[in-house]
Amino acid sequence: MEKEAFIQEVRRLKAERQAVILAHSYQLPEVQEVADFVGDSLGLAREAQRTRAKVIVFCGVHFMAETAAILNPEKTVLLPDLEAGCSLADSIRPEDVLAWKAKHPDGLVVAYVNTKAEVKALADVCVTSANAVEVVSRLPQDRPIYFVPDMFLGAHVARMTGRKLDLFPGECHVHAGIREEHLKALLETHPDAEFLIHPECGCGTGCLYLKPDAKMLSTEGMVRYAKAAERRTFVVATEVGILHRLEKEAPGKAFFPVKPDAVCEYMKRITLEKVYLSLKEMRHVVRVPEEVARKARRALEAMVAVG
Ligand code: 13P
Ligand code: SF4
Repeated sequence: MEKEAFIQEVRRLKAERQAVILAHSYQLPEVQEVADFVGDSLGLAREAQRTRAKVIVFCGVHFMAETAAILNPEKTVLLPDLEAGCSLADSIRPEDVLAWKAKHPDGLVVAYVNTKAEVKALADVCVTSANAVEVVSRLPQDRPIYFVPDMFLGAHVARMTGRKLDLFPGECHVHAGIREEHLKALLETHPDAEFLIHPECGCGTGCLYLKPDAKMLSTEGMVRYAKAAERRTFVVATEVGILHRLEKEAPGKAFFPVKPDAVCEYMKRITLEKVYLSLKEMRHVVRVPEEVARKARRALEAMVAVG
């Protein structure tokens, strides 16, 4: 089938199934184009929670589809490719959290949304890159806090809130690969550009040392910022799928990726053809065991309420 035929079929099946298509900002352009909503992890979780559609086709990665299934258990959540995983979510196991809890019985666990449901079920609260600073700043001052699993985001949150956090040493292989030397090169070629950095990036603290006025933002935060900014040139440090949104939603402005090969192969597993097959054959249904979902829901509901 040609691309246009897939698009027509996806639209027809979507209506027939009473489905909604949610897509993350790193999805392929043609997948973003058939989606009803494109956003960051926080926006997608909220959209999944509030939708009235019977079926949610989640164009993103597995932990995002699980989050949708936990927040809206009445709906059928489909992930077009079950291999769409996440190296960061895979970096931590429930045992890691249990071991810290055993040593810190009064401790609080803050889980980045990029975790499996079993880890979220052990957390007191979940966060996304868009609201982690705000959520952590509201936590009681007198309790130890374990921030899992992204150490670069955790270090950013610790810096912004002034809180001492125990950090799990996890990272996303795509963002960890964006380092100071990449940033330095762009600082030389685009000294007057505005720098938009995702807090998962490996350049972390170093990038703020090199460029103190850089903005640390979620993917949605980058789009919002670029649309409103007077500056017309931006250097962007995150997965390059965001460029489609930035160029579409902030036309006439120029965007330069810090690392053009920062591509998440998991996100790119979702293709237009797989979205079509997902709707046609109602596959692959993502389910979370109720006992796990019930515990994880508390932490996720606390997350969607902030920011
Ligand atoms: P956000 O879109 O929430 O900033 O997330 C980035 C990410 O790495 C998702 O996998
Ligand atoms: Fe996970 Fe990194 Fe891919 Fe995001 S970009 S889904 S954090 S591996």
